[in-house]
Amino acid sequence: MPKVVLIGFMGSGKSTVAARLGELLHIPVCEMDEEIVRLSKHSSIPEIFEKHGEPFFRDLESKVARSLADKSDIVISTGGGVIGRSENMEHLASHGGIVIFLRSTFETVSQRTGEIDTRPLFRDGARARELFAARAPLYAQWASITIDTDDRTVSDLCAEIVSRIQSVSCPP
Ligand code: S3P
Repeated sequence: MPKVVLIGFMGSGKSTVAARLGELLHIPVCEMDEEIVRLSKHSSIPEIFEKHGEPFFRDLESKVARSLADKSDIVISTGGGVIGRSENMEHLASHGGIVIFLRSTFETVSQRTGEIDTRPLFRDGARARELFAARAPLYAQWASITIDTDDRTVSDLCAEIVSRIQSVSCPP
């Protein structure tokens, strides 16, 4: 099984889908945000942003992306901003990484992040909307598979992902 890399905006469902995919494919899941928090020795992403600012967070994110370059048999759930540096995506896509874009509308991601918003970059709705528009082409550029997630269950999404991974890794 190759390296499966989930990308998409905050609230697109990467962590939930990654957890289910890991179970279905019987491979471990790496949550990049958790690795970043662990490396930083802080207790949360908001704390890293508050104490050190976004550039420090981005450098840690790049470090984690680099450390995942030669991994296989793993599902990687990225943070929504990972596509901001092309080197991150080069590392994640290397060694046969299959990059899957979980695409959602802005309305859907706003609803999903609305109640439990611990994300520093979603606190300002107008800024979040701008980021969403600016990032959409980058997710599309790096994706080998794009899956629309609006109004779909996790089981349904994962079934489609597993079948599309199989056709990418062993074409008929
Ligand atoms: C970010 C997304 C977050 C987290 C950080 C920055 C972003 O991850 O990495 O708050 O720039 O979009 P999720 O996409 O898992 O929310």
